[in-house]
Amino acid sequence: MRYGLGANRQWVALFALLGALACLLQPAASVKEKDFKKCDQSGFCKRNRAFADHAVAQASTWSSPYNLLSETIAFKDGQLQAVILKSIGTESETARFPVTVSFHKSGTARLTVDEERRMNKEIELRHDSKARKERYNEAEKLVIVGGIEHDSAAEITYQDEKQVNIKYGSEGKFEAVIKFSPFEADFRRDGVSHIQFNSHGWLNLEHWRPKVDKPEAKEGEETPPAGEDESTWWDETFGGNTDSKPRGPESIAMDISFQGYEHVFGIPEHTGPLSLKQTRGGDGHYAEPYRMYNSDVFEYELDSPMTLYGAIPFMQAHRKDSAVGIFWLNAAETWVDITKTKDASNPLSLGAGGKTNTHTHWISESGILDVFVLLGPTPRDMTKTFGELTGYTAMPQEFSIAYHQCRWNYISDDDVKDVDRKFDRFKIPYDVIWLDLEYTDDRKYFTFEPHSFSDPLSTGKQLAEHGRNLVLLIDPHIKKVDGYPVHSQLKSKDLAVRAKGGDAYEGWCWPGSSNWIDCFNPKAIEWWKTLFKYDAFKGTRENTFIWNDMNEPSVFNGPETTMPKDNMHFGDWEHRDVHNINGMTFHNATYQALLSRAKGEYRRPFILTRSFYAGSQRFGAMWTGDNQASWDHLGASFPMILSLGISGYPFAGADVGGFFGNPDTDLLVRWYQAGAFYPFFRAHAHIDARRREPYLLGDPFTAIVTSAIRLRYSLLPAWYTAFFHANRDGSPIVRPMFWTHPSEEAGFGIDDQFFVGSTGLLVKPIVEKDKESADIWIPDDEIYYNYFTYDVVKTQKGKHITIHAGLDQIPLLMRGGHIIPRRDIPRRSSAMMRFDDYTLVVTVAKDGSAEGELYVDDGDSFDYEKGQYIHRKFVLNGSSISSVDAEGRDGKSLRPGNWMKAMQDVHVDKIVVVGAPASWDKQKVQIASEGKTWEVKVHYYAAEKERAAFAVLGRVGAKIGEDWTIDLEA
Ligand SMILES: *[C@@H]1O[C@H](CO)[C@@H](O)[C@H](O)[C@H]1NC(C)=O
Ligand SMILES: *[C@@H]1O[C@H](CO)[C@@H](O)[C@H](O)[C@H]1NC(C)=O
Repeated sequence: MRYGLGANRQWVALFALLGALACLLQPAASVKEKDFKKCDQSGFCKRNRAFADHAVAQASTWSSPYNLLSETIAFKDGQLQAVILKSIGTESETARFPVTVSFHKSGTARLTVDEERRMNKEIELRHDSKARKERYNEAEKLVIVGGIEHDSAAEITYQDEKQVNIKYGSEGKFEAVIKFSPFEADFRRDGVSHIQFNSHGWLNLEHWRPKVDKPEAKEGEETPPAGEDESTWWDETFGGNTDSKPRGPESIAMDISFQGYEHVFGIPEHTGPLSLKQTRGGDGHYAEPYRMYNSDVFEYELDSPMTLYGAIPFMQAHRKDSAVGIFWLNAAETWVDITKTKDASNPLSLGAGGKTNTHTHWISESGILDVFVLLGPTPRDMTKTFGELTGYTAMPQEFSIAYHQCRWNYISDDDVKDVDRKFDRFKIPYDVIWLDLEYTDDRKYFTFEPHSFSDPLSTGKQLAEHGRNLVLLIDPHIKKVDGYPVHSQLKSKDLAVRAKGGDAYEGWCWPGSSNWIDCFNPKAIEWWKTLFKYDAFKGTRENTFIWNDMNEPSVFNGPETTMPKDNMHFGDWEHRDVHNINGMTFHNATYQALLSRAKGEYRRPFILTRSFYAGSQRFGAMWTGDNQASWDHLGASFPMILSLGISGYPFAGADVGGFFGNPDTDLLVRWYQAGAFYPFFRAHAHIDARRREPYLLGDPFTAIVTSAIRLRYSLLPAWYTAFFHANRDGSPIVRPMFWTHPSEEAGFGIDDQFFVGSTGLLVKPIVEKDKESADIWIPDDEIYYNYFTYDVVKTQKGKHITIHAGLDQIPLLMRGGHIIPRRDIPRRSSAMMRFDDYTLVVTVAKDGSAEGELYVDDGDSFDYEKGQYIHRKFVLNGSSISSVDAEGRDGKSLRPGNWMKAMQDVHVDKIVVVGAPASWDKQKVQIASEGKTWEVKVHYYAAEKERAAFAVLGRVGAKIGEDWTIDLEA
């Protein structure tokens, strides 16, 4: 939810009126661009772009002023250390930058550069600042969870006075070539250069310098040309706020080139296409760099490099059969320019005009330079290795991947209970109902409004009767008011973010004047935990979960709607240094709190966050913030979610229906059909939007939406298995074409269709008004079936096929060669399906085979870490379908817990084989399972027109956790 309305309730009506008037005058309301900086309004961005432009203008005479001193090189245990010397101006002045290049067993390399003088604290701060003197170097502590064990097998293979070569990675496939004068690094795979650092000479490390007051030029006199342009070095003002910059200029920047790569992906969160655009002008390109500075952007723009609520500075480059990537570990404001050039140097190279190189220019305001290099070679390697570094997606609460019903606001206990009953009356499944801001007593978190929410426990109980849950909003701003114990504790324990003077920082947010909890402080997290105990947060129970909003942090009266950069956090770091990690620390605090609500209770938390950084996937889901009820926003949600998915954060969704505005019925229906394929599936609406619960739509729309939601529920076993893969190896939950088919160049730019996990389900949601067909691009030579009709779709690899999709239809194909687990009995909630039998849908491939998986656990506890889960592999081989343990476990050593015991009564009920050959046209077949055999009835349906032949095996009766085999020709 978002900034824009007044902080007082009385204002809401007034603003609604003003808002309506503004809409009349200006139908396409959009973000107030002037509220957010452009590159040339951000001193360090402007300076570094100018630095690069200067280098380009000098062309061949340009020489980067950074030289590695070869005599300082030391190499030991997979790590090279040395010093880079920067020459400054024309004088003999220099600055020293210690550099480390580490090589890891995981196959990554890492370059870090710090500044000697600041490390030694030999600098003076201005304005009596109490800030730390070092460059911020603690991002690693909060972000990196593994993958940095040194590779002691890495070795220097060549060294002379100009360069040093280090071989590393499995079988020494990777090589780093570090040149000394100027400093450059070239990362090679199998002898070929893929990633180059500073090959353009745009490396720029702003060394510390004192502010020298120059005599002011007298009126009428020309200012003497005084060396560098210092106008943006010191205090900077934007939108009436002045940043005191006590450490002066300290940005870091570097060019990183991807040799032979035309596509780069990643660096969410932005609204543009998955394949990132160039940023220095030209047709259809952006004129601004991609910006990462977590912000509450009111009514955000589409197709824009503007910053949004979260940031993951991970970028991967892709070309046919090769993927490489870099992770720029920096928490400060960061900008990235992207340009592409055609390499015409080799006229004999195949293809028109030679290969394309992508050049990127990374610019951060402060901190150390810290970059990881990933050499692939597959997109799967990218997501796996990045997850090894920053953590994999937490196993979710099972309910949290089902459907969520939210609006700002359900206004009372009775309202919630009534909505709950209506879902039942209309037989629409849902798992979670949400309470936005207004459930609180005067916007004091951890309280309930005493009149309208006088009995939240009874609400929680009613929801629990059908296995449902309640999510409450809790934000990081704490209302500054007397007699509010949460605030007085925050104050007395001294756990708030401080202003530059040292007092608790005070700003304006939903509750009016507020202070902010500083979750960089471990003591703040300890205190935060106490607030969530069931006996402290009265009205909450086991089925209460949390939503963390506004954690960028959003500050209504702050610069760019956030905190001043010279605010101070735990450890005396400036807010400037840690801004982009701030949201994650709050998400983490709530995660830790939900883990410890009661003694002996150890369950998976569910917490939705708006702000995030690399690593936030460890703590819960995210959503794309305050979108609009428009077709464009519906369409834009997929590139965004796909981008997050390949950047380590796949548990993502957009507000179904659009937050601002009122969707017309068609749009809402299409949005539900699309949202049923978001990893995080939640409907939400602004306080001024009309009610739009699915049962209000009327016939036939309620029925259409209901069937979309039910489709999600029946496929929950497949979705949960996809989450399991994200948890194990970082695989995206919804997968773009380049990720699943890394050799098919025509698919690299496609971001409006995707596969669900490894199920072979290929979806292309309809995101245009009045559109009744979808053109689906087919990535391979496999057979494809329509999910609903079993029609064989006439496909050709690399071509689009058009399939009809009226308003009641979803363009959904099944790729041949997969086995998809489902649960087909419609229920009120996912919890009510927990011990239902399964259906397996087998889609026979061209070569007659198929394979699939099911992962299932109790969906709630951490017992899966102790082996309490079922993980089956299903295989169709020749005429036999079988189920075996996917990990080859025999299960004998495991003592089944309660959930495992209950699963012993859960069976495979039905198997549908789509594309079954005519030789399977029979009445019954034998099944063998764990020493027993019995007969299973078969109904065979011969092919008819477009429809494939299919066989339905009914009442299979094999236990889901046990091995079994069915031979269809025996
Ligand atoms: C999360 O909280 C734990 C416990 O205080 C702390 O050890 C960890 O560093 C925190 N992580 C992040 C990302 O804030
Ligand atoms: C299929 O069956 C054949 C013959 O029994 C066997 O050699 C092969 O390994 C099986 N393939 C799979 C994928 O199980």
